[in-house]
Amino acid sequence: MKHFLKLLDCTTEEIVGMLNLADQLKYELKHGIPHRHLEGKSLGMIFEKASTRTRVSFEVGMYQLGGHPLFLSSKDLQIGRGEPVQDTARVLSRFLDGIMIRTFEQAEVEALAEYGSIPVINGLTDFCHPCQIMADLMTIREFKGKLEGLKMCFIGDGNNMMNSLIVGALKTGMSIDVACPEGYEPPKEILDFAAEYGDLFHMYRNPMDAAKDADVVITDVWASMGQEEEAKKRALAFEGYQINKDLMAAAKSDAMVLHCLPAHRGEEITADVFEEHAAEIFEEAENRLHAQKAVLVTLMK
Ligand code: CP
Ligand code: NVA
Repeated sequence: MKHFLKLLDCTTEEIVGMLNLADQLKYELKHGIPHRHLEGKSLGMIFEKASTRTRVSFEVGMYQLGGHPLFLSSKDLQIGRGEPVQDTARVLSRFLDGIMIRTFEQAEVEALAEYGSIPVINGLTDFCHPCQIMADLMTIREFKGKLEGLKMCFIGDGNNMMNSLIVGALKTGMSIDVACPEGYEPPKEILDFAAEYGDLFHMYRNPMDAAKDADVVITDVWASMGQEEEAKKRALAFEGYQINKDLMAAAKSDAMVLHCLPAHRGEEITADVFEEHAAEIFEEAENRLHAQKAVLVTLMK
């Protein structure tokens, strides 16, 4: 594996291999076993959008691996003043050993990988959020002991999270049912991929249909970063697309709830369901650290 740009590029073996490594790195961290696999290596972290979890987990993860993380806000980089990504890629490749980027366009991440000569990691685009899904799969395995044969359900926007969960679930042997309002479906590329899995994927309008007998119920914000001005329109469109007690009654009685965070209580999830499942949701947040360290070691060691 040269880059980690989207789960569509990864084989099942690559995904499961990184999940196994993530489990091992988590065990080693908890038991004080050093794992300085990236001694002397530098990771540049370009952020064109806000972040709490992604920034802190990559930064701390690099330190724990013996490497050096550099936080690079696009506001302070020449990229923010229009320097082409193709040039930025070639320059940064001369200084760094890897780049993590959070931005809007997937094409920008792909161009960085194409023009640079070092591994590129996607830390979220409008199209996908592969690092988050590695943490989600890791958390599901921890709580349920397996992935294969489980049913995931995603309620809400056909956004970066839904896109990546569809690919991640199907590639690891899970089935996934989603529910979204008309006009907020995932893009054709994702629907075409899911169509290859036949009955393991369904897209519904009614959230209750998607939640039926689910082992894991997941949602995300109604308005993502960059869609702030659409928030009112989206709040109307997504009315009813909420994880609440009624929806959870349709899922299996031992169903987990995950949320990539930040969460908007009273919108996509009620406060009571969120708090009832806080142990799962915050383990998921912690697992960003372990899962990303596995990605960093796989690409940069
Ligand atoms: N879930 C996630 O990516 O969080 P941040 O936006 O805080 O990085
Ligand atoms: N869909 C959200 C995820 C945040 C982690 C966004 O893109 O803002």
